[in-house]
Amino acid sequence: MKTRINGVEIAYADQGTGTPILFVHGYPLNKTMWDDQVKGLSPRFRVVTMDLRGHGESEAPLWFSTMEVFADDVCALLDHLKIGRTVLAGLSMGGYIALAFYRKYKNRVKGLVLADTRPQPDTPEGKQGRFTAAQTAHKNGAGAIADVMVPKLLSAQSVTGRPDLVQAVRQMITKTPVTGIAADLMAMAERTDSVALLPEITCPTLIIVGEQDKLTPPADAQLMAQKIPNAQLEIIPGAGHLSNIEQPEAFTAAVRKFLESLPE
Ligand code: MLT
Repeated sequence: MKTRINGVEIAYADQGTGTPILFVHGYPLNKTMWDDQVKGLSPRFRVVTMDLRGHGESEAPLWFSTMEVFADDVCALLDHLKIGRTVLAGLSMGGYIALAFYRKYKNRVKGLVLADTRPQPDTPEGKQGRFTAAQTAHKNGAGAIADVMVPKLLSAQSVTGRPDLVQAVRQMITKTPVTGIAADLMAMAERTDSVALLPEITCPTLIIVGEQDKLTPPADAQLMAQKIPNAQLEIIPGAGHLSNIEQPEAFTAAVRKFLESLPE
């Protein structure tokens, strides 16, 4: 399904009934990364996935973006779907967006799932790397980004032993318009430091990380678990950064248990 939100056509899917959970994908992916979670959770809960602007089947305007712009899109989609409060789940850049959303719209958040993400901003070298990557995308296309990103997103075992998974992730990346990739990179480079926000998070929070996550390692998840009051931490063995894709059953089971623990 599609709807026009904040001037941009946004694609989304909305399945099931019960406690709502909205999943926000990472860079440079799209809502299909959540297919296993949709399948596993929608018989029991209302599961919403969306393609962020510049991704998947959503429009990709040539424009700057920020985590707050993405958060505004999430909020407008909730309004469109008449969902008052939701559990918000974000992986990686989706987690940066979830933190930005919490800062701006915390009354709309029933619970948070922060997966393979971190609260710290980019280092100066990290920012420089974003601009270099944007130039690479501009000059050589999304395929060049896939070459760099696939080994970072997946665990070493998946890269060598699971060609189907490598292919699926590659395809998601190569389908992403270059304007979307560049907008993500600029937005991530300029994102706000969310470390000081963590002790102020009062909703139930589940933190998930792949044991072999190289991009946002378990130390980042442990920092969030220490600073967010009463947060739960789940470390998933046999997974890298895309823990929900590499170990879908363990990831979905952790989210299911978390959703079941929330008051209706
Ligand atoms: C993501 O997976 O969303 C990104 O790799 C996160 C990042 O580069 O900071």
